[in-house]
Amino acid sequence: MTDDCHQTSANLVRALLTVSTDCLKLMDADGRLLEMNPCGLKLMEIEDFSTVRDQPSTIFWPEETQPTFLDALHRARNGLASSFSAFCPTAKGDARWWDVTVLPIFNARGEVVWIFAALRDATHAQMSEKSPRDTIKDKEEAPPPMVARLESESLRLQAVRAQIGHAEKLRLLGQFVGSVVHDINNVLSSMSGAARLIRRVAADERTLDILNPVDQAVSKGARLVRQLLDFSRTGPSEPEVLEVAMAIKGDADLMRHFIGHGVQLELNCEDGLWPILVSPGELQSVIFNLLGNARDALDGEGRVEVSARNRPSVERLRGLPAGDYVEIAVTDNGPGITPEVLARLGEPFFTTKAKGKGTGLGVHSAFELAKACRGMIEINSASGMGARISLHLPRAGAAGDMMAAAAPQPTVQAVPTTIENASA
Ligand SMILES: Nc1ncnc2c1ncn2[C@@H]1O[C@H](COP(=O)(O)OP(=O)(O)OP(=O)(O)O)[C@@H](O)[C@H]1O
Ligand SMILES: [Mg+2]
Repeated sequence: MTDDCHQTSANLVRALLTVSTDCLKLMDADGRLLEMNPCGLKLMEIEDFSTVRDQPSTIFWPEETQPTFLDALHRARNGLASSFSAFCPTAKGDARWWDVTVLPIFNARGEVVWIFAALRDATHAQMSEKSPRDTIKDKEEAPPPMVARLESESLRLQAVRAQIGHAEKLRLLGQFVGSVVHDINNVLSSMSGAARLIRRVAADERTLDILNPVDQAVSKGARLVRQLLDFSRTGPSEPEVLEVAMAIKGDADLMRHFIGHGVQLELNCEDGLWPILVSPGELQSVIFNLLGNARDALDGEGRVEVSARNRPSVERLRGLPAGDYVEIAVTDNGPGITPEVLARLGEPFFTTKAKGKGTGLGVHSAFELAKACRGMIEINSASGMGARISLHLPRAGAAGDMMAAAAPQPTVQAVPTTIENASA
């Protein structure tokens, strides 16, 4: 065959692979996956071929079908074609039935160099023969798809790596904040010293009036710097009895800076809030994580409310053992959370944000904190209607009688939320 002919047939093969509506797989003689056509990737719900390239093709098949597939591979290696029908879920776990043909591909010397498999989706035909109940049962009983496991494992590792990198950066930033804060404090002291001096020597009212905003700015700067230093020092710590309102108000300036200028922040802490038993550093980091989500959802414009209120035992909160609780909520009037995202919220490493923008651990850490405190997370949101994520944590002193109770489950609700009705 001339080079030209060779190129033409290679192009023809590529074109056939591209237009085919079946799932086509090319394997080496050992059954390792070399190539899959675009439609095949779509049918098998594989997003990134590199996660399965060079993997033994047996990983696609559930345990009970593997002998049939191995038999077909063995026959192909011996130069024989075979066909069979079998159940094999997609990478994402969707139930699918396939009509499969496995063929040997020979070189010019008649040796088997590749093995070719064509899988036609026969799910529709299969479903119409089965009752819906059978289908659900089949799906439930299907073993976890190997491909899905490989993909999610690789994603998990990527996320863990990103998280470690991020944590290391934060650690360095914490050290850096300490020394910068020291310098900023010196600058602020010089400014307030100079203002004091001018006050002493200046005789006219006008100069003294000009100094008032300078004093205010200096004390605001000092407060912010102190909060920043406290924030950089707080980390996971043992639970202690905490006055929530004081903790939230103490971080007010930092929160404002954190969410950015275009977003309006409201703090609403009910009078007479009960104390709670919680690690202050962990609660602070959960609140900032939820604020970060609200800020990202709002994209520079909108409103966020951080609120806290008592939920006495008479309210009998669904999913929680009877008792008094304090509810701490972060509510935004952003685009809300879609039902698909809502269903997965709290899953570790679940994120819809671009690479490097989110690790998918924010809401999960809120769930972990609620679990550790024997409390609960409640999520209220619907597309286009804002989001409200709240922690219900037991009143300090009331936790003792709840320790024996099973850890409550999170409650997720797809209902519209607005800042107005949340603070009502
Ligand atoms: N207030 C909200 N409005 C809209 N979507 C939200 C909101 N809070 C969370 N989400 C959605 O939930 C996903 C998971 O949130 P989570 O805080 O667990 O992780 P993340 O923000 O993506 O990453 P990380 O917090 O680890 O940096 C987000 O990617 C986002 O899609
Ligand atoms: Mg987040």
